[in-house]
Amino acid sequence: MIQTCLFPAAGYGTRFLPATKSLPKEMLPILTKPLIHYGVDEAREAGMRNMAFVTGRGKRALEDYFDISYELEHQIAGSNKEYLLSEIRDLMSSCSFSFTRQSAMKGLGHAIYTGKNLVGDEPFGVILADDLCVNEDGVNVMSQMTQIYEKYRCSIVAVMEVPKQNVSSYGVVNGKFIEDDLMMVSDMVEKPDPKDAPTNLAIIGRYILTPDIFEILETTNPGKNGEIQITDALLKQAQNGMVLAYKFKGRRFDCGSVSGFVEATNFFYEHDNGSK
Ligand code: G1P
Repeated sequence: MIQTCLFPAAGYGTRFLPATKSLPKEMLPILTKPLIHYGVDEAREAGMRNMAFVTGRGKRALEDYFDISYELEHQIAGSNKEYLLSEIRDLMSSCSFSFTRQSAMKGLGHAIYTGKNLVGDEPFGVILADDLCVNEDGVNVMSQMTQIYEKYRCSIVAVMEVPKQNVSSYGVVNGKFIEDDLMMVSDMVEKPDPKDAPTNLAIIGRYILTPDIFEILETTNPGKNGEIQITDALLKQAQNGMVLAYKFKGRRFDCGSVSGFVEATNFFYEHDNGSK
């Protein structure tokens, strides 16, 4: 059973300026819950109980969110508004939360490496909260991936097909399908030019990583945009052993973009109203 989920959350969220000038982008709400809460819910449903966050300057609201707010608790205790806190209270009582800071923005690979001490020598999940995933017909994306991990015991990345002209926003994989929706990765490239992209299978923000990734990251040189890329480290891992790319079931909203964020908001609004 995978116990820990790592949430890299140090990014600036420049696409949401000026809102993100003083508000972490992970705290932007879809309806009444911040994005990060959806990610943590997904990890908890997948059986993970240690929630580990790599934050940065200006991200203290994340720590406060997963802590008791005494004033607020006192204020609404016994009132008809108390139920509004029940979901987050329930989450807080069933998981542990730990935080570390990435002091310089050196890429996703570096952010994950910064989380090493929070993770330990165990396989772990990684969720990028601005990729919001839903699967209305069954288990969530991280749970789908933990099931695959139980069988193959190697690192796994979630992928989806994107229009070829969009591949330059993603890590892209290539390899051989060993099951209908499961590819053994032989090539991986971070944000390729569409004309150089091996496929249109794009990595989205869900990973299961085996802990040897930390050693690999230690010797991974800066790649695309001068940043240490998890994609480059995973390619090394694939070359030394095995990495799988999984075409997940469900839907992903790119909440790192304004249009994706609005789409997700509309989706959850319709969904919530439909269920009332
Ligand atoms: C990161 C990864 C990229 C992946 C993407 C998914 O990029 O580096 O490989 O496809 O997340 O959202 P970012 O969007 O942080 O630039």
